[in-house]
Amino acid sequence: MTRPITCIADLQRLAKKRAPKMFYDYADSGAYTESTYRANEADFGAIKLRQRVATDMRNRTLASTMIGQPVAMPVALAPVGSTGMQHADGEILAARAAEKFGVPFTLSTMSICSIEDVAQNVSKPFWFQLYVMRERQFVLNLIDRAKAAGCSALVLTLDLQILGQRHKDVINGLSAPPKLTLRNMANLATKPRWCWNMLRTNRRTFRNIVGHAKSVTDLKSLSAWTNEQFDPALSWDDIKWIKDRWRGKLILKGILDADDAVKAAESGADALIVSNHGGRQLDGAMSSIQALPAIAAAVGDRIEVFMDGGIRSGQDVIKALALGARGVFIGRAFVYGLAAMGEEGVTTALNVIRKELDITMALCGLRDVSDVGPQILVPR
Ligand code: GLV
Repeated sequence: MTRPITCIADLQRLAKKRAPKMFYDYADSGAYTESTYRANEADFGAIKLRQRVATDMRNRTLASTMIGQPVAMPVALAPVGSTGMQHADGEILAARAAEKFGVPFTLSTMSICSIEDVAQNVSKPFWFQLYVMRERQFVLNLIDRAKAAGCSALVLTLDLQILGQRHKDVINGLSAPPKLTLRNMANLATKPRWCWNMLRTNRRTFRNIVGHAKSVTDLKSLSAWTNEQFDPALSWDDIKWIKDRWRGKLILKGILDADDAVKAAESGADALIVSNHGGRQLDGAMSSIQALPAIAAAVGDRIEVFMDGGIRSGQDVIKALALGARGVFIGRAFVYGLAAMGEEGVTTALNVIRKELDITMALCGLRDVSDVGPQILVPR
């Protein structure tokens, strides 16, 4: 009998079995000592919820909005590079799961399936995450392509002008597709399901980039490419031309400091994401959940505040909402589902989180997710 999936950790265990080691490791890693990566999860544990009893808990709702768009629950899928290497056609499968569930899907610039490809395979608008590259024309084209594909928000990442080192990626020789070395082939031989699905698709490189960016020498290596192409000169002044070109909802991702949050609010963006890139950039930075309250206080309601980093359960979601987030993003939680079971795995991850969020909200004495606030937390 197969063991039922009870929580995100179950999906993570399956993902570890089913995805090639280099891609599992790519997801399950942080920069350098991984201290921030660990803190993102661990710091949720220190936040305590107030248990309330004998409150009528019928007719509960998790429905909310993020940047004015209705969501079945305030949880979006975060942009994750190389998602189509966790499982063949991964971005399309995850986007479909999100669409059926009623939450936003965010496609990474560094995706395997292209913007156009995802758009052709879903029926509702998704969000597009933008990296700013040195090659300006390429960036302008990406913005135009996202617009033409009907994307309903642009998520501009600000915390990855240079790449924090993730030791496992260096050791594994991470590339998409994997190089056919003896070590990789030995590992792939233990992943027949992954190989079978991958052989049946032609989506195996960074297809937003291939054939679109001119000055690319080594496209298979994410780190070589970011070192070469990502724009180290990106500054707050750049938000303006990006905003002018895009002319739609804009979300700034990677804010961890209250002073930067104020700048984000002043930039006229619609939302910011409190994020340390899943602990993958500045090792030693605060966890996202630790940074959230000061940022929420600094910007008030001038800009919507979202957060990502460390969310592995509905309990984590409600804690983030209580501390001032209007919505959260999950990255690894859905990627583990995808690597474990494809589209069904992403749906399972979303269902796990929905159930946990719903029951936790009820046990905190609330029926409507929009009523969640600091009143559900034990004061510290
Ligand atoms: C890219 O966004 C990464 O964190 O690997």
